[in-house]
Amino acid sequence: MNARTDWTEADLGDLSGKVAIVTGANSGLGLATSRALLAAGAHVVMTTRTSEKAATAQAAVVESLGNAAAVAETMLLDLADLESIRRFSEEFHGKHSRLDLLINNAGIMMTDAQLTIDGFESQLGTNHLGHFALTGRLLDLIESTPGARVVSLSSVAHRWGFMEFGNLMFQNGSYTPRAAYGRSKLANLLFAYELQRRFDAAGVDALSVAAHPGTAGTGLADHLFNRWYLRPLKSLLFLGIQTPRQGARPTLRAATDEDAAGGDFFGPRGRNEHRGAPVRVESNATSHSQVDAQKLWTESERLTGINYESLRTPTK
Ligand SMILES: NC(=O)c1ccc[n+]([C@@H]2O[C@H](COP(=O)([O-])OP(=O)(O)OC[C@H]3O[C@@H](n4cnc5c(N)ncnc54)[C@H](OP(=O)(O)O)[C@@H]3O)[C@@H](O)[C@H]2O)c1
Repeated sequence: MNARTDWTEADLGDLSGKVAIVTGANSGLGLATSRALLAAGAHVVMTTRTSEKAATAQAAVVESLGNAAAVAETMLLDLADLESIRRFSEEFHGKHSRLDLLINNAGIMMTDAQLTIDGFESQLGTNHLGHFALTGRLLDLIESTPGARVVSLSSVAHRWGFMEFGNLMFQNGSYTPRAAYGRSKLANLLFAYELQRRFDAAGVDALSVAAHPGTAGTGLADHLFNRWYLRPLKSLLFLGIQTPRQGARPTLRAATDEDAAGGDFFGPRGRNEHRGAPVRVESNATSHSQVDAQKLWTESERLTGINYESLRTPTK
């Protein structure tokens, strides 16, 4: 493992010829990640929920990158809708025959109780189940592209999470925004680690790596500040916080560092992992539970109807 502690996007190298998907690419970390991958020469498919947001995202990369943005493509994807994921996958397969980097970045945080179109609790549904279904639908391309990587975005908030398989969706009034966000970010790690174990067992030449940004000033918490008297608090909290560009570095290192191993987790090196250059960090013991990972996998296949046929071998 490369122990460097000063990694920046200048270390991305030449990514020409590589095809990447970044989910949630119109905002925050997704936009910053897309920009950096484009600047390094990758062909980036930036996914957004609406065509208006696609146009804004495209304009943002053109403005900052000029010609380098020519390799930016936009496609519509709503991770809270299994049918939208199916349509995206069909469109992507129609246009591309390889997938080097799948950056499962999009997310929502601590929203009020609500359900996705398919009836899933929305944070688990968007942050985990949506990306589980997306990765499964793109698995053929991941497996056939040598050295492909899947990067899952988690958070230090995975430590708030606990799995309760009889009540994954927080039914019967048990929902709290914080616990549901924690569960979804724990699920991102359980999935990332289990995906790598299954790649290994099936001899697939691909890596599953996880990352978290620490804290970065993005749109993630906007809905928590939507009352006028809370807005000054947001500006106060954003003082000294990392920029999206800094926050994207763990993702970018996870996606490209040649010394990264499957199952690695990258985050900022500073105190409490809030800020700093991206280094390998540790997640909690719960996130490494193979029992929970397998239960979540089985449940995610059942809920989404997406079966990872080629990665069937259950791990020990
Ligand atoms: N910022 C932080 O400090 C922080 C800390 C820990 C972890 N993270 C993680 O970082 C990731 C990126 O968040 P961010 O901070 O960049 O927040 P952000 O600025 O709010 O960006 C989130 C992105 O996800 C998209 N998204 C939300 N729901 C979606 C859905 N149903 N289908 C498809 N896309 C959807 C959003 O699209 P719309 O514009 O359409 O809503 C937006 O593009 C998340 O996974 C988050 O959990 C962030």
